[in-house]
Amino acid sequence: MLSRLQQQVTTTNNMVNKLTYLGQVTKPLLFNELITTRRNFLGSLTKERDEEEREEKLGVRQMTEKEIKDSKESIFAGVARVSDMVLTSGKGLYVYDIYGNKYLDFTSGIGALSTGHCHPKVTEAVIQQAGRLVHSQIGIAHHETILKLVQKLKGFFPSQLNSYFFWNSGSEAVEAAIKVARLATKKPNIICFQGGYHGRTFGAMAMTTSKNCFTTGVGPLPTGFIHAPYPYMGHMPKGITSADMSDYCIEEMERILLQKTTASDTAAVIIEPILGEGGYVVPPSDFLFRLKKICEKNNMLLICDEVQTGFGRTGTMFAFEHFGIVPDIVTIAKGFGSGYPISGIVTRKELSDLQPPGSMGGTYAGNAVACAAALATLEIFEEEKLVENSIAKGKRLRKGLDELAKKGSYNIKEVRGLGLMQAIEFDHKVVPKGTAYQIIKELQKEKMISLTSGAFETLRFVPSLTINDEEVDEGLDKLNKVFKRVFN
Ligand SMILES: Cc1ncc(COP(=O)(O)O)c(C=O)c1O
Repeated sequence: MLSRLQQQVTTTNNMVNKLTYLGQVTKPLLFNELITTRRNFLGSLTKERDEEEREEKLGVRQMTEKEIKDSKESIFAGVARVSDMVLTSGKGLYVYDIYGNKYLDFTSGIGALSTGHCHPKVTEAVIQQAGRLVHSQIGIAHHETILKLVQKLKGFFPSQLNSYFFWNSGSEAVEAAIKVARLATKKPNIICFQGGYHGRTFGAMAMTTSKNCFTTGVGPLPTGFIHAPYPYMGHMPKGITSADMSDYCIEEMERILLQKTTASDTAAVIIEPILGEGGYVVPPSDFLFRLKKICEKNNMLLICDEVQTGFGRTGTMFAFEHFGIVPDIVTIAKGFGSGYPISGIVTRKELSDLQPPGSMGGTYAGNAVACAAALATLEIFEEEKLVENSIAKGKRLRKGLDELAKKGSYNIKEVRGLGLMQAIEFDHKVVPKGTAYQIIKELQKEKMISLTSGAFETLRFVPSLTINDEEVDEGLDKLNKVFKRVFN
């Protein structure tokens, strides 16, 4: 099916491209007609694909049970998965499996699907780009879409963050940020945070301590990464209250600079403005500001890893905006591309200009189709006011979670989060180990997909930013039902 569509797109495009020259030179009217014809044609392809999706939703399967089982067993066991479902399609907040079951998705592919599953505008942009230019390779030539994307992104970042590099995954963006920091400062060490998650490549793993399953048995990991305490009540020593937490962590940071890595050896501090995989922990409001001051005083760069928190997730375009700071380097991915593999780093030109030519790059870096998806995503952010929706629906979700926490004796330690990045942490000293996992399994029976987070008993809720009131309420109803069942 796909190859037939691709063939049709290519044939039409070739036709249009050939006639473009003629049309521009001789008959502008004919040219315009052709463009309209192409648009209508691409529209009909989208309709055809929708038909196919509908078939899949009805459970018309393409594979036998035996093939499905064999394929599942042939995929690496090292991939942990919260469900055994096989999905065939998705629209907005819902996904469909091969049996035609419909699920409410409160995971958005771990925050990647900011505009929901298969937003028509993103799909259309991808189809158009796929028929025009798929790949030009960043080391060979610019493509027009990447340049448009840069122009668009400039409107979302503070003006001093004016230099961009695009890559594929969040982990790669983190590695690239470390490269910028080391080359710019000519210093080796990086301070990162206990409980942080930065990815699964080796440098990123060396900075990751949210859970030990990511790194156990795969060392040695690169050296030069020093871990500082993140202001998270769950990690604080006895006697430290939430009011003391910021002071304690700042003092620890200063101690690290005296005892573990001197400022003259330290290139940067990397932090998730809100811990993601580590449990959706929001730091005290003054912490990032004080951290930035320490960085400035010691000539160290501040890197904000916004891979999960970026693009409206927390109710501002970037989470650093909550804390009144502008970092030196920002990593972006996930919600940036509506599910297409694109990531990036954004910094000041004076820093990125210190990199020798050739030090950055990669075959698929800034891939044209992924850039088209990102560009469409940013347009949707403006047209559909997704940041505002994140605030409004985040409030509704939070209210519902707070009410749920008050209702029963569920041993909830904390409900926390910002915008549409919300979590419930149970008291892991009281509830049985695996409680959070049991809840997400029960939610699956209620046709809802959700996630756990971190090393403790935490549920996280990270739906697409396009969610509406009814979908928030549907999720809360299912949660209420499951909590009653699990705890009574
Ligand atoms: C804050 C943060 N950084 C980096 C990553 C790694 O991104 P990726 O899985 O795209 O490599 C993640 C992924 O969850 C993340 O949440």
